[in-house]
Amino acid sequence: MKLVLIGAPAAGKGTQARKIIAKYQLAYISTGDMLREEVAKGTDLGLKAKDIMASGGLVSDELIIAIVKERIKADDCKNGFILDGFPRTVVQAQKLDELIGSIDKAIYINVPDEVMLERITGRLTCPKCGASYHKVSIPPKQEGICDVCGSELTQRKDDTLEAGKARLATFHQQSEPLVDYYKEQGHLFEVNGNKDADSIFADIAKELGE
Ligand code: AP5
Ligand code: MG
Repeated sequence: MKLVLIGAPAAGKGTQARKIIAKYQLAYISTGDMLREEVAKGTDLGLKAKDIMASGGLVSDELIIAIVKERIKADDCKNGFILDGFPRTVVQAQKLDELIGSIDKAIYINVPDEVMLERITGRLTCPKCGASYHKVSIPPKQEGICDVCGSELTQRKDDTLEAGKARLATFHQQSEPLVDYYKEQGHLFEVNGNKDADSIFADIAKELGE
């Protein structure tokens, strides 16, 4: 199964992706996590991406396509994968079709803007394994500590109200056209993301098949 997750910032892509890979044994590819790793390591790519990410813009199609192209060649992708945060522009979607033929499904998690801003500003992230929590709605079992790997949770640099608003605007301008792109291909599945994470996952699992 080759899946794509579409959704505005903090729509719950990462949260649902982790549930999906656990049930369907797919490789997980998050371009946001890959870029944050490059920034942390201080690589050339990381240096190019750092300020763009902090301001809520998009890294160039060329750079991001190059890293995804390499990543999907890895062994763990042979039995299928889920892409979280890629494609993010129609150019990226066209390139992905060129690379893999066609995806099986694009899952669009639809959440109202005001809910997204609440989720962004309340999010806590694990810098080691990428798991995300929310101070109010999905707190970790032990305050400030990742349930999965025990690392200390932090707040992402782009999780301020200002950067969140900019990321939301970028989504509406550059990524929302993907909804029509995949609708026209007959691959779109839209799910209401404004409910609890387990109910959203139940809707997704129903669509993907138990
Ligand atoms: P990326 O890391 O992909 O960020 P994003 O799209 O802004 O999405 P987030 O990771 O913020 O949110 P999410 O949807 O994963 O939500 P989560 O599950 O964590 O990208 C970062 C940056 O990298 C981009 O801005 C761009 O600069 C660059 N980039 C990445 N890919 C690129 C590409 N393809 N092209 C160009 N540039 C690229 O949940 C959010 C919060 O809500 C958490 O606190 C969570 O606990 C909570 N939550 C989740 N679900 C629920 C629920 N159902 N109810 C209540 N709370 C919930
Ligand atoms: Mg994410």
